[in-house]
Amino acid sequence: MNYHNVSFAAAYGTSGQLPASTRPEVAFVGRSNVGKSSLLNKLFNRKKLAKVSSKPGKTSTINFFNAENSHFVDLPGYGYAQVSKSEKVRWAEMINGYFEQDRNFTLVVSLIDIRHPATSLDVQMVEFLKEAELPFMIVLTKADKLSKSQIMRQKAALRKQLSFGPETEVVACSSESGLGIDELKKAIERHLAE
Ligand code: GTP
Ligand code: MG
Repeated sequence: MNYHNVSFAAAYGTSGQLPASTRPEVAFVGRSNVGKSSLLNKLFNRKKLAKVSSKPGKTSTINFFNAENSHFVDLPGYGYAQVSKSEKVRWAEMINGYFEQDRNFTLVVSLIDIRHPATSLDVQMVEFLKEAELPFMIVLTKADKLSKSQIMRQKAALRKQLSFGPETEVVACSSESGLGIDELKKAIERHLAE
């Protein structure tokens, strides 16, 4: 896959606005501020492809990007407490509504902050992905904040917490240092080729 070839396609404020799925989709999910948009920018080596902020709640729509023979989908984050109740409902609708549709789910990249145990919403997300039998993998984000040995320890701890078998791919990544990005690219390509 050519990661130089990417453009913004469209933003959708409700799942009802989504067009039918016409290409394989690679979607990025995780709590607000975990680093979804940064990871997309890193994959495509484009600083401003997806908007990033140090404040949670930056991505407030479902954003589609055209990549080679695929769509990459940046979802709003879950678990952000500091928004109005109606916004929370709208965000939950977008995330749940996206996954409830009959779409070409090629890979769901579920992001979890490597520095902490998975939150209850992270656990719910993973449980849903398992239940729904969607193809998914885990990216542990912000790995530049930990040492090599801490990364190993946290990876093992999260695998245990989320009861992953050997079939579940878990990659520690950093959008700052580039750690794990090649491995993630290979995993994405493998799923797109299937
Ligand atoms: P929402 O759109 O609010 O759901 O957030 P998001 O998951 O898209 O996170 P975003 O990419 O906007 O990043 C949130 C913050 O984390 C920003 O300040 C980023 O610079 C920072 N960040 C993202 N990835 C990394 C990383 O790998 N390492 C470090 N140190 N910081 C990161
Ligand atoms: Mg975002």
